[in-house]
Amino acid sequence: MRVLGIETSCDETGVAVYDSVAGLLSHALYSQVDLHVDFGGVVPELASRDHVRKLLPLTRQVLQESGSQQSDIDGIAFTQGPGLAGALLVGAGFAQALSYAWGCRSVGIHHMEGHLLAPMLEPEAPEPPFVALLVSGGHTQLVEVKAVGDYKILGESLDDAAGEAFDKVAKMLELPYPGGPAVAALSASGTPGRYEFPRPMVNRPGLDFSFSGLKTYVLNTVQERRADGTLDQQAAADIALAFQTAVVETLVIKCTRALAATKLDTLLLSGGVSANKALREKITQRARKDGFRAFYPRPEFCTDNGAMIAYAGCVRLQQGQQQTDRSFAVRPRWSLSSLEGIH
Ligand code: KG4
Ligand code: ZN
Repeated sequence: MRVLGIETSCDETGVAVYDSVAGLLSHALYSQVDLHVDFGGVVPELASRDHVRKLLPLTRQVLQESGSQQSDIDGIAFTQGPGLAGALLVGAGFAQALSYAWGCRSVGIHHMEGHLLAPMLEPEAPEPPFVALLVSGGHTQLVEVKAVGDYKILGESLDDAAGEAFDKVAKMLELPYPGGPAVAALSASGTPGRYEFPRPMVNRPGLDFSFSGLKTYVLNTVQERRADGTLDQQAAADIALAFQTAVVETLVIKCTRALAATKLDTLLLSGGVSANKALREKITQRARKDGFRAFYPRPEFCTDNGAMIAYAGCVRLQQGQQQTDRSFAVRPRWSLSSLEGIH
């Protein structure tokens, strides 16, 4: 089965062709970073308009690069939610219209299931059951995956998502959007131990997260340094490193707790923040020490992309799921645990 995947939930237009036998045949990504950078964050209306502009050329490109004709495509998968309503509508409208014109099936995909399945695109793919840590700009969730489609949320952020906290700290330090990669890059020149920030909620039982206290701690430190005129480049790097270290340690502690609680020995990381090198290194170290296996997508598939949607769509279409009508209803808010299982 060959599937065209369409991702437009936020500020990236991702399109890909996945084949159930040959694997990923082609993928293309257009990032809107340059469009939003002057605003310090994503402007939803601009995002929608840019998806309209890019979807058709990117689709033509991936079809050509994968050597596919229209008749080779068995189904079209699109991100149905969660995400920005207008941006999702562009992808849904495009995918549904194309599936009608081509006479093929279509299926709406949960964006976080796409992230969760992204490590399956790698040569060494894990098999469920496993624990997944989903860390993106909108979500921080620990999920027990018994089978594809069978998701139990073990814990999640009570306030900001990890990626959102990175983005907000970046703003405090006057770094450009998107903040995660900018904070990570600045951290590289930070002095370890110069600042010590709290590890949120690690002393409390349970698997939920909270990053707003840490964020306030960072803000207070930045304001103090600014007030006494000592917020130079080095101080900013030291603060960025202390923040990143606190987030990474918190995530690592909760992952090991989730593995112990579920008695599972496989951990999967996905979502934009899983591209963070320090996080990957710490998880790898901990996996070696504790004897669990850790899987990640390649960095370009940690952040939003069409390949993960094409893959998830292929799995669901193969199981006989599909849109039952041509409507392009989207689900800007949609719980992962409400998804239909696949067995
Ligand atoms: O998964 P994603 O592309 O989009 C959402 O579904 O939200 O994640 C984007 C988030 C942003 O908050 C971005 O700052 C963060 O992931 N991010 C990072 C890194 N790369 C992206 N955070 C920390 N370190 C990184 N290297
Ligand atoms: Zn995402």
